Amino acid sequence: MIDGYGRSINYLRLAVTDRCNLRCHYCMPEEGINYIPRKELLSYEEMLRLVKLLANQDVHKLRITGGEPFVRKDLIHFLEAVRHQTNVQSLNITTNGTLCKPYLDTIEKLQFNSINLSLDTLDKDRFFQIARREGYDEVMDVLDAFSLMDTHLKINMVVMADSNLEDIIPMALLAKEKDIAVRFIEEMPFNGGTHRDKQNIWDHKDINKHLEKEFGPLQATDTKHGATATTYKVKDFKGQIGIIPAYSRTFCGLCNRLRITAKGVLKTCLYDDGVFDLKGFMRNGANDEDLLLAVKSALLHKAKDGFQAEHNRSGNKLMESMSTIGG
Ligand code: GTP
Ligand code: 5AD
Ligand code: SF4
Repeated sequence: MIDGYGRSINYLRLAVTDRCNLRCHYCMPEEGINYIPRKELLSYEEMLRLVKLLANQDVHKLRITGGEPFVRKDLIHFLEAVRHQTNVQSLNITTNGTLCKPYLDTIEKLQFNSINLSLDTLDKDRFFQIARREGYDEVMDVLDAFSLMDTHLKINMVVMADSNLEDIIPMALLAKEKDIAVRFIEEMPFNGGTHRDKQNIWDHKDINKHLEKEFGPLQATDTKHGATATTYKVKDFKGQIGIIPAYSRTFCGLCNRLRITAKGVLKTCLYDDGVFDLKGFMRNGANDEDLLLAVKSALLHKAKDGFQAEHNRSGNKLMESMSTIGG
C-alpha cells in the first residue's frame, strides 16, 4: 500500500473502543462525554475482516488502541484471533494497564511485539490528580509484570508543564534499571475541548533541555523508519529514553500509518477528521475488493504531513478526545 507521496503504509492503528475507565485531563473532560452507542462500534468480526484484508496487503504491523482497549468486553479473545488467524507479524497494544492484571498469562502468551503503557507520573497522588480515578497500584503491578515478559515495554508519559514536570527525571530513571523505553510526549490539543494555555505546553526542545540538564548531552540512536520517538541512549542505562514531538510533527516525512477508529472511520492522518466510513461501506455490502479500493484511493490523498491534514479538516478545531481517535 503506497500513498500519494510514495510512502509505504504498513502500520495500522485500530481503536477497539472509545471508552476509558480513567479520565486523564489531557485526553478527556471530567463529565459530559458522549460515548458511541454499541451498535455504532465496529464488531470484532468486522475488525478481524479489515485486519486480515490489510495484513494481506503487507500492513504487517498492528497496534490496538482505544480509549482503553481492555474496557471492551472479550478483547482478549479478539487478540487471540488476530494472533492466530491473520498475517499480522507485529502485534502491539497501547494500554493504561489498569485492567490488565486478570489477563497477564494470556498477554504473555500472545507475545506482543511491544506493549506501550500510558503512565504520566510515578506519584500516587498525582496519578489521581491527572487521571481523576484510582488505578495507580494496578498499573505499578502490571508495569513489573510486563517488564519481565519477552516484549518491548515502552512507557508513554505526556508532559504537562502544570502537572508532572517533576516526574520527568524519576520516570527517565526507570530506564536505568530496566531494559525499557521511557518516552516523553508533547501534549496535543485532543482533549475533548478543554482550553489549554499555550504557555503550559512543553515542546520537544523544552523536554530535551530538561533531560540534558540532568543527564548531559543526549546522543540520538538510529531511529526506526516511521517511528514517532527520537530515542537516546544514556550512559549506564539498560534501556532508552525518547521524545515524541507529536504536536511539532517532525516525523511525518516517513509516516507509515493508517488508522481505523472505533466507529469504523478510516483516518489517513492523526490530524485529519476522518476520510472514509468503512463501517457504513461494509454494512452496505461492500466486498473485499471494494474495500481495498476505497482504502487505496484514500491513501492516495493522504496529507503530506499533520499540518496539511489539519488544514484540510472541514472547519472544526482539533478538540476531539484522543479516546475517539485512538492516539
Ligand atoms: P510505536 O511506534 O509502535 O511504538 O507506537 P507509537 O509511539 O506510534 O504509538 P503510541 O500509541 O505509543 O503513541 C505514542 C504517542 O505518539 C501518542 O501521544 C500518540 O498520539 C502519538 N502518535 C502516535 N502515532 C502518531 C502519528 O502518526 N502522528 C502523531 N503526530 N503522533 C502520533
Ligand atoms: N497529547 C499527547 N498524547 C496523548 N495521549 C492521549 N491524549 C494525548 C494528548 N492530548 C497519549 C496517551 C497514550 C497514547 C495513545 O496517546 O497517553 O499513551
Ligand atoms: Fe503521519 Fe499525520 Fe502522524 Fe504526521 S501527523 S506522522 S502524517 S499520521
